[in-house]
Parts: sequence; C-alpha cells; structure tokens
Amino acid sequence: MDSKALAALLSTLIPQILLLLLHILPLQNPNSIPNNLFPILSHFLSSGDIAAATAVFSRKRKRTQLLESQELHDEPPPTNRVDRVDPANSPESPIPRNPDSFKQFFKMKSSTFEWLATLLEPLLECRDPVDSPIDLSTELRLGIGLYRLSTGSDYPEISTRFGVSEPVSRFCVKQLCRVLCTNFRFWVGFPNPNELVEVSNSFETLIGIPNCCGVLNTTKFNNLRNESIAAQIVVDSSSRILSIVAGLNGLKGNFQILKSSTLFKDIQDKKLLNAQTVDLNSVCIPQYLVGDGSYPLLSWLVVPFIDPMPGSCGEGFNKAYDLMRVSSLKAIASLRSWGVLCRPVEEECKTVVAYIGACSILHNVLLMREDYSALCDDMSDYSVHDQKADYYSDVGSESNVIDNKGFEIRSALAMRLSEHVKSDHTLDPRMSVQLQQS
Ligand SMILES: *[C@@H]1O[C@H](CO)[C@@H](O)[C@H](O)[C@H]1NC(C)=O
Ligand SMILES: *[C@@H]1O[C@H](CO)[C@@H](O)[C@H](O)[C@H]1NC(C)=O
Repeated sequence: MDSKALAALLSTLIPQILLLLLHILPLQNPNSIPNNLFPILSHFLSSGDIAAATAVFSRKRKRTQLLESQELHDEPPPTNRVDRVDPANSPESPIPRNPDSFKQFFKMKSSTFEWLATLLEPLLECRDPVDSPIDLSTELRLGIGLYRLSTGSDYPEISTRFGVSEPVSRFCVKQLCRVLCTNFRFWVGFPNPNELVEVSNSFETLIGIPNCCGVLNTTKFNNLRNESIAAQIVVDSSSRILSIVAGLNGLKGNFQILKSSTLFKDIQDKKLLNAQTVDLNSVCIPQYLVGDGSYPLLSWLVVPFIDPMPGSCGEGFNKAYDLMRVSSLKAIASLRSWGVLCRPVEEECKTVVAYIGACSILHNVLLMREDYSALCDDMSDYSVHDQKADYYSDVGSESNVIDNKGFEIRSALAMRLSEHVKSDHTLDPRMSVQLQQS
C-alpha cells in the first residue's frame, strides 16, 4: 500500500481502536456488551481459580473426537483442515509440558490459559468456515493464536509445531484477535467515574498529588511496508491500560495524534475527566492526565517543567512525574515484548492494529488475574531521560489550544508536592526505592 492509500485508509477509520476494530472485524451484535462489565467480571474472576492445566494439547483426545465425529457423520474428514504430521515423528504435545512452558510460549500461567480457554470456548468455535469446519479443540485454537502473538513465529513454524495447515493456523490467529477485540473490548474501556477515583487515589498514595487519572503516551509500530502505526495509551499506576487508540498515522507528532483521537474529543467535550475536582490553595484542580514534553500543557494534561531550577518545586514535580511515567513505560515495554509486536510485522496495517488490540486486552486480563508473566519490570533502559529532548516544540502554531489554566494547575500541584515532601508524611516506600535507582 502506498502512503496515499494508507492515508486514505486511516482517514476512513474511526480513531479509536475499539471502533476501529469494529470496522475491520465486524461484530455480530455490537450492542450486546455492556460498557462496564469490569467490576462484575473481576469479582467473578477472583472468586474461583481454575485448576492447573492438564494434558491441554493431547493429540489422543483430538483423534478420539475425530473418530467419533466420523462415526456419527460417516463421511471423510475435510481434506483442507489439517495436514497432520506423521504421528510417529511428531511429539505427543506441540508444547513441552513443564511449569515454565506456558509462560515461554503463551506469556501466561497455565491456570490463566485454562481460564481463557473456558471463557472463549463458545466464541472461538462459532465462526468456522461452513464448507470446511476446523476440527480442533478450543485449547489448540487458543494455543495457536497465543503462540503467534507471544512468540511472533511465522505461519510455517506454527503449522509444523501444531500439526495443522498454514491456512488453519492463520484462521485461528485471526479468530482469536477478532474475538478479543470485539467481544472483550470492554477490558480496555475507560473507567467509569467511581473506578477513576480509585485510579487517582492510587496515584496520590504513590506520588502525593491528587486527581491524576492516568499517564498518556504514544508508541509506534512498523510493518514491513514501513508503515508507521501509532498506539496511544493511557495507563493507571499499575500499568493497566485505561484507553487505547491504535491505527493512527505514526508519522505524525504525539499531539497531532492525540488531537485526532476520540479520547481528546471526549475530554474536550467534558464527557470524560469531568467528575470530582480538588481544591488546592484555592486553585480548582480538575481530573487530569500526565504526559511528557511531546505534549503541550493543557488544563487536563499536565507535562513536566522545562529546565526547572535545582531545588525548586518544579524540579520536585519533575521527579514525581518521572515516577509516574514508569507505569506507562512498563505498559509500553510489555506490549512491545509480545513477539508479534517486537519487530516489524509482516502484515498489513489492519492486522497490526488487531495485534495491538489483542495484546492490550491480554495485558489487562493478565494484570486483572495477577498473572505477571507478560509484565516487563526492567526499566533500566529508560532510567536516564532528557526531558528537553522530546519537548513539545510546536507551541507557536498551537497556542490556541494551550490553556493558561494548565500553568496554574501545574504550579498548584508542584506546590502541593513540595509541602507533601517537607511534611512528615512518609512516602510510599516504592517511591524512595525507585528514586534512588534513577
Ligand atoms: C522507512 O520510513 C522512515 C521514516 O519515514 C524512513 O526514514 C526510512 O528511510 C524508510 N525505510 C525504508 C526501508 O523505506
Ligand atoms: C513515553 O515513551 C517514551 C519512549 O517510549 C519515553 O521516553 C517517555 O518518557 C514516555 N512518556 C511518558 C509520559 O511515559
């Protein structure tokens, strides 16, 4: 696709991944999913843990099923569905069965895998091509899809490992992405006002400033056609993704990307971040996000000070900001650690978007289940950071958007922080540890 065609494609897409994915992967009934299942679901999930995986990929089980269905229907199995490898030369299971293999091959614990298989079963099996149903267990379908996302292996490798044809493995991967991005997109939905209070409370516990509702950042992925695909994310202090917008043209600057996102529009229109305000020395602090210097300072987007005086409260604020951004760096590093996203993707733009969506959803699911198999904890690459280097440099032409209120709010937050540090309040231990590291 040349850049014009890409631009045309991108401009037709609604700049929000969930809607975007709706375009690409049509949903059977988009209205069937309530906006806020998160609390119900997380309650439901934590109430029961599923037993450790047993012989998930047992060939025997599959063959038995095959035989049974042949007896029932008395017809030969469709020839295109599975090119079975010679059983004599194939291992009993495509994945070595030891405690670490689930983490290595699927980026999750075996208990999470089993849980996902149960949850996705009816959806993964419901869209087989009518003329050639794919006779594979849910575990195999899920395993093939997750293996592609997690390792980035190519289709020839996948089909050899799992003993299925290339078209079947492509189908399984696509189907997993489709199911996650359509039926489970609420897992990356923006928190409701009550949940948002929890988000800002945990930032306050960690950093000492009130009303912060997330850290904003943008990361870019390339495919082999050298198309750059941006993903803009907002995360909470535990690196959970609160909003993701993917598929925007990655050649644009971060602020331009932000402005073309529905997140921006919803915040400007006061549909989001419109709840509780906090009064700090008679400055009214609305709910806000923090971002780095590639964004301008707005009344709802607080960015670090440029060149603050040593020892000033601006410098103190920047230190606190550095700590907040760790959660966004972790989320981005974790997303990029999925094999399919860590190198240029060999597929077209919309497939890359589907991968980004699927991996983001899995990222949140894993955090919700306290399964940290896919969470990157080593942020040493990012410890040295020059805030000037990515300073938003387009202030002149965008001065209409820059909000003087932003300066007032940031100063009030910085003041608050210096009082907090001076007072006898002991900081969250994580803060002192992490500040020492940097
Ligand atoms: C890929 O795109 C970048 C940025 O537009 C450009 O600098 C680079 O030369 C391109 N590479 C190839 C192989 O086309
Ligand atoms: C955004 O990510 C870039 C690199 O990926 C990093 O340098 C920057 O500090 C991040 N900003 C925030 C606010 O996390």
